[in-house]
Amino acid sequence: MSNSEVAKCPKDRLPEYAFIGRSNVGKSSLINMLMERKNLAKTSGRPGKTQLINHFIINKNWYLVDLPGYGYARVSKKAKKTFQKFITNYFEKRKQLVLAFVLVDCRHEPQPIDLEFMQYLGESQIPFSIAFTKADKLKPNALQRNIEAYKERLLQDWEEMPHYFITSSSNSTGREDLLDYIDRINEE
Ligand code: GTP
Ligand code: MG
Repeated sequence: MSNSEVAKCPKDRLPEYAFIGRSNVGKSSLINMLMERKNLAKTSGRPGKTQLINHFIINKNWYLVDLPGYGYARVSKKAKKTFQKFITNYFEKRKQLVLAFVLVDCRHEPQPIDLEFMQYLGESQIPFSIAFTKADKLKPNALQRNIEAYKERLLQDWEEMPHYFITSSSNSTGREDLLDYIDRINEE
């Protein structure tokens, strides 16, 4: 189900897990990888592909939610504001939301917009984990270095490093870990 308004999202009470992050970080690709489906969530090389709140029901038991990316530079200031409202509405109103996965591209240094978004989730008391994306694009050493640098930066804001996953939609790295984690929470 795809929606432009939080009020129209599924009304049942199944737990849901949202995937959020900057445009082009790989949210839709990660959802496809997790579900082993090529085109379940629409992906694109051009940022701004996902524009709606997309609910995918899994095993009639829980929802994966694909959201539009934040921080897409090529939209107007007004569009950006409307958009921010759309995302914050989702996070503030959606009682079924169990946890958000904040996706960050493992190749980049910590970006203010991602750090701010995690702050926002913290202040809103919304549990989140981090998924580093596109791990296939770095050699193991470089990957490890970047993750360490990210941890160091996050520990300036947080008492502990949030739970995190290293993922690649190209080679399915992180798939089992992430799905096990969701299963475990659903069983609690
Ligand atoms: P928006 O919906 O625009 O916010 O983007 P998104 O975060 O959903 O990103 P999407 O999944 O559409 O992927 C963006 C681009 O990154 C596409 O060209 C993907 O093929 C590529 N991509 C995504 N994940 C990976 C990955 O793990 N490895 C590699 N090599 N490329 C990836
Ligand atoms: Mg998308």
